[in-house]
Parts: sequence; C-alpha cells; structure tokens
Amino acid sequence: MGSPKGYITSDELQKCNMLSIIDEFSEDLKDVRGKCMDIGCGPGDITKDFLLPNLSLDAQIIGTDISESMIKYANQTFKDEKRLHFEVLDIQTKNLPKKYISEFNHIFSFHTLHWCNDIRQAFKNMYQMLRSNGTILLYIVASHDSCEVLRILERDIRFAQYIPDTIKNIYSFQDSNNARKDLKELLQSVGFTIHHCSLRERSYSEEKNSRQYLNSLISILTFLEDMPQDLMEEFKNTLTCEFLKRKINYKSIYNNQELTLDLYKVLVVYAQKI
Ligand SMILES: C[S@@+](CC[C@H](N)C(=O)[O-])C[C@H]1O[C@@H](n2cnc3c(N)ncnc32)[C@H](O)[C@@H]1O
Repeated sequence: MGSPKGYITSDELQKCNMLSIIDEFSEDLKDVRGKCMDIGCGPGDITKDFLLPNLSLDAQIIGTDISESMIKYANQTFKDEKRLHFEVLDIQTKNLPKKYISEFNHIFSFHTLHWCNDIRQAFKNMYQMLRSNGTILLYIVASHDSCEVLRILERDIRFAQYIPDTIKNIYSFQDSNNARKDLKELLQSVGFTIHHCSLRERSYSEEKNSRQYLNSLISILTFLEDMPQDLMEEFKNTLTCEFLKRKINYKSIYNNQELTLDLYKVLVVYAQKI
C-alpha cells in the first residue's frame, strides 16, 4: 500500500530539491525526447508538475513505482492519454518484463534509490531498459539520519516482526567513506559512461520541514498498515523522537524563530549507455 495523499501533502522538500536539479540540468532536459521512465514516481505529482513540463513536447513518461496504491492514485489523478501514465515496477526485480527492455531513451529517478538493498540490480535493470545512447539522471539520498533511526527500529523487539527484509540493508552509501567514487565505479561496472557524478551536502532548518519530512517518510512505510493501531502510533512516535534527537535545535538571532537543523548528503549522477 502506501499513502499517496500523505506523501503529496508532505513532499515540499523533495519538490524544492527537484527545482534545483531541473534548473541545473535544464539545458539537457529541454532536449529530452521519446520514451522516458521516472522510477519511484510515488503519487505522480512531481512527475506531472515538475519533470514532464521541463522536457521537450515530444517526450512521454511512464512513471513506475513498487507501490500499487501509489500507481493507482497516480493513474487516477495525473494520467494524460498522450504523454503520461503509470505502471507498477520493482526496480530491483530479477525478472525485468520484456516490454521494458531497450525501450527507453531516458530514465530518471529522484529520492528513491536509497530504498534499494540491491542497488546493483536496479542499475543493471536501468541499463537493460535503455536504448543505446540513452541517459539516466538520478538523485539518490546518500546518507541521512533516518537510516540510523530505521536501523534502530528494526532491532526493536516491539516492531521487528513487522519490518520486512526489503527495508533492511537499504541506503547503500550510508557507511561509505567515498560515496561518489563507489557510485561511479558501480555504474561503470554495469556499463554506464559517467558524464557527471557529485556528492552534495544538503540541509533544511525550518521546524515545519522536519515534520513534513517525517510525514513523507511515514507515508511510504507500507508495513505500518500491518501493525495494530496502537503499535503503529508507538512506531511513529519512536521514529519521530529518535529522528529529532539527532537534530540541532537553535533559535534564529534574526527573528527568534525555532530552527531544527537537518544535514544530509545526496548523490547526483548523469550517465549514458553508449
Ligand atoms: C520518497 S518517494 C519519491 C517520490 C518522488 N520521486 C519524489 O522525488 O518525491 C520514494 C518512492 O520510491 C518507491 N520505491 C521504493 N522502493 C522501490 C523499488 N524497489 N522500485 C520502485 N519504487 C520503489 C516508494 O514506493 C516511493 O513511492
């Protein structure tokens, strides 16, 4: 499952990150034509309102996501007969449907690949889905406190039985000493030619952003629906508490506003199948 509306009402930070990537790669994006895939499109709002309008008018996108409820919602809300529709796909699948092989000119993925525990398989699938000269533009969360918090919750006997193995060993670059080098080597070993690969420090500080971030995280934790209501509330409270415990709180000297600083790292990569 997953809560599409929950995500849409709390993805302001993700939209903000998208705007800066779209601005940075605008020259490349405006020339994007043909068949595209947006992997981990969630409820589809960002695919429809941010990605699609910045590609050439000849581009069509298939948004894909592992979550059936996200895809159902995206098709009901954002589908456009000519240029945009949505399909269920686990990007880590070992049985990539034939209909996707060598079909795509461009593949995008934003705020998704840190959920993979077999990211090499995800990259292999992307390589297979691309036509020759096809490109990938990826925005991957490299490290974030939420990874440490999820690791703690996984070991908590109250929640352990509900947390599926698919959520374990995620955030492939969390413990890496050189995430940029590791990502580059991984993509090259799959066959990609790298045009750009960078590791960036990101931050936000408004208290409302922390709350929104936590809501967006909770909205995609599908296993919560299997928990009894009171345990689910306990899980959310523990997650929030452990997350906020790791934040620096301070008061702005300019306007006395309470701020909660969250620092995290992202990887941005633009690569090609040549
Ligand atoms: C944080 S949302 C990102 C949504 C949107 N791309 C954005 O930038 O805000 C991550 C999405 O990845 C999806 N996801 C997680 N694991 C996946 C997998 N193995 N294959 C495809 N989608 C996956 C989740 O269901 C969720 O909708």
